[in-house]
Formats: sequence, structure tokens, C-alpha cells
Amino acid sequence: MAERVVLITGGARGIGYGIAECFARQGERVALADLNPAAAAQSAAALLPLGAPDAAGFAVDVAHRASVEALLAAVSERLGAVDVLVNNAGICPFEEVMAMTPETWQRTLDINLTGAFHCTQVVGQQMIDRGQGGRVICITSLAENVTSSAQVDYGASKAGLRMTTVGFSIALGRHGITCNAIAPGMILTDLTRWHWEQPEHAAFIKQRVPVGRIGTPTDIGHAAVFLASPEAAYINGITLRVDGGHQACCV
Ligand SMILES: NC(=O)c1ccc[n+]([C@@H]2O[C@H](COP(=O)([O-])OP(=O)(O)OC[C@H]3O[C@@H](n4cnc5c(N)ncnc54)[C@H](O)[C@@H]3O)[C@@H](O)[C@H]2O)c1
Repeated sequence: MAERVVLITGGARGIGYGIAECFARQGERVALADLNPAAAAQSAAALLPLGAPDAAGFAVDVAHRASVEALLAAVSERLGAVDVLVNNAGICPFEEVMAMTPETWQRTLDINLTGAFHCTQVVGQQMIDRGQGGRVICITSLAENVTSSAQVDYGASKAGLRMTTVGFSIALGRHGITCNAIAPGMILTDLTRWHWEQPEHAAFIKQRVPVGRIGTPTDIGHAAVFLASPEAAYINGITLRVDGGHQACCV
């Protein structure tokens, strides 16, 4: 299979970078788009020795439509049309809902939900116009189904993203473009590091994860590579949970 252009939002670090590593090892052409373009460029450089022929970093704020449109123009000019879009950029402010400001609520939805809408609509239109199919993968969370009082904005955004994924799968499927979600469990990144720095919390979560360990960004990357593969062509509109069995465990 010819190398494809894989665009990953929030790709400078964490799960986005783990996904990028897995695509790079397949020899795919990776575009890392991030709010922090310097970090994206540095991370892209680290992908070159893994096998990505021309990985590059790009600036984007997915919450803004014009920024997403500028990103697609820049990626297309440098690497070519996008074959695989991974909507990974996301935040989780962890504010108790009764004390949460409307600004926090709005920012979480703007990035986690509306950002994925902008990217999928803009990149999806390019995929339709090109007529060669494509893949869209949205990174949701177990919070698409369960949440806490400190993650109400986050849970709302991820539940919305799950249904946005389903809706786009219907609209894009007839063009040979599949749209699926991956719901990671607890993955060790800068977003969750503070949990793991509290020993009793880390022990509790570990006990709740049947496979007995926290997840890694590349656990998510391997699932993304599968969903983007030709073998996954008939999988459309699903959420694939990659959580070591966490959500299934009630003890
Ligand atoms: N870490 C986990 O345990 C976990 C679990 C479930 C789901 N997720 C989801 O996985 C995704 C990545 O999480 P992570 O743990 O790697 O987080 P992270 O904070 O380590 O990385 C997120 C990246 O997104 C970028 N970003 C933030 N806002 C952006 C914006 N407006 N536009 C472009 N880029 C932006 C950041 O600069 C950063 O590089 C998120 O959608 C998160 O909700 C994470």
C-alpha cells in the first residue's frame, strides 16, 4: 500500500504522539498538528528515524474554523491530501461542576467536540472531492459513557463526540470514508500524570483495570492503525474501547 498522509490533531505529545509513532513505524507520512507548533515540530523530527519519510509539525487551534482550514491548506501543500484524520486534540480541566465557570464549560466543548466537527467536515470534504475514500478516527474516552462531578464538561463533550462520530459515519460511509471512535481507558500522559502521582489513587485504578496496568499511548496507536487499515474497511460508526477491561470491571 502506498504511504498515506495521516493528520493527527493534538499530536505533539501524549496519546496523539503515541498514535503518530505507530503510523510512523508503518512508513506513513505523518502530520502532527498542535496548539504548540514548536513541540509539534520537535515531535515530528523524532518520528523520522522511526520510518515516517517526511513527518512534519503544524500549528492549529481546532476550536477555530479558520485555523483548521489553514491547517488543511498547509498540510496539503507540504505532504498532499489527507488520507487519515485522527481527531485527538482534547482537554480535561477537572473542575467540580458546581464551581465550574461557563468559560471552562465552553472551552472544553469548543476543543473536544466542535474542534472534531470542524476537522471532520473540512478534511472530510477534501476526501469526498478527491474520491479515494479515507479514514476518520475520533478519540473519545470512557467518559462518553461514565463521568464524575469533576468531569461533567468532559463527559458531555465525549458523549457528543461519540454521536458526532456516528453521524459522520453515515454521511461519509457512502464515499468510502469510515468514521470510528477509540475510547481509551486510563493512559499515562501529561493529562493524567497527577492521578498517578497520588499512590492510593494509582493503586485503586490499577486494581480496577483487569489487565493490571495503566495504558500507554501506543496501546491507542495500535488500535488506530488497525481502524485505518484496509482490513477494517467494513467497520464504521463504532467506538472501540481500549481500556484493559476497565469499563467492564465493577469491583
Ligand atoms: N490520557 C488519558 O488517560 C485519556 C483517556 C481517555 C481519553 N483521552 C483523550 O485523548 C486525547 C489526548 O489526551 P492526552 O492524554 O494525550 O492529553 P495531553 O494533554 O497529553 O495532549 C493533548 C495535546 O492536545 C493539544 N491541544 C490542546 N488543545 C488544542 C487545540 N485547541 N488545538 C490543537 N491542539 C490542542 C495539546 O497542546 C497537547 O499537545 C484527548 O482527546 C483526551 O480527552 C485521554
